[in-house]
Amino acid sequence: MTLDTIYSEADGRTHYATPDDSHEWRVGQQTVVHGDCLQILRALPDASIDVVVTSPPYNIGVAYRSYDDRRPRETYLEWLAEVGVEIARVLNDSGSLFLNVGSTCSDPWIAMDVAGTFRRSFTLQNNITWVKSVSVGENTFGHFKPINSRRFLNHNHESIFHFTKSGAVEVAQHSGLNVGNGTVNGPSRAGRRRSAMCQKPKFGLRFISMDFPTHCR
Ligand SMILES: C[S@@+](CC[C@H](N)C(=O)[O-])C[C@H]1O[C@@H](n2cnc3c(N)ncnc32)[C@H](O)[C@@H]1O
Repeated sequence: MTLDTIYSEADGRTHYATPDDSHEWRVGQQTVVHGDCLQILRALPDASIDVVVTSPPYNIGVAYRSYDDRRPRETYLEWLAEVGVEIARVLNDSGSLFLNVGSTCSDPWIAMDVAGTFRRSFTLQNNITWVKSVSVGENTFGHFKPINSRRFLNHNHESIFHFTKSGAVEVAQHSGLNVGNGTVNGPSRAGRRRSAMCQKPKFGLRFISMDFPTHCR
């Protein structure tokens, strides 16, 4: 729910956000809420959300404008544990949480540690690997970063953990959740046909995306 910058169609300008700068506005049919995710989650009623999609900071030292992305691992995981408890509270029993986390070559445990934190509140129903590759037109070719290490293999993926409360939530087989052989960022980045993962879901859900950040009650 916090962005460093966000473009608003309402006034056609880019807004720069700071942590204590909390507000909301409409973009089409969506309500965009900017603010600290814990504060905003705590204001939502129990079981009021069907789907949460989020990509929290990975704690890898990215130079965000308003967030320290290199905190002690325990502090970082404790913070995400609190976020997990709040997401579990606002999500209904048949809801889904899609949690995107990346790692680095030198710290490959990050995504798994974060998943372990959410395990306290959820069941891991699906473990999706987002393979990141270079795309040309509608085809994808090879890796998106050159191999420049004598000790590490290419790190060309991130994790998308699909958490649910029961582990038995039905997934709509043709809704865009089944990716097949395509890659998430291939065709869509090229501005051509959208990949399966990027297709608009066909169901009407109360949905929060905690980093894009769309929130519909
Ligand atoms: C890994 S990035 C996700 C970027 C996003 N997926 C995108 O494509 O723009 C993590 C984001 O979490 C935001 N963030 C950091 N602390 C936050 C907080 N307490 N509440 C909400 N968002 C926060 C950062 O500003 C950053 O934009």
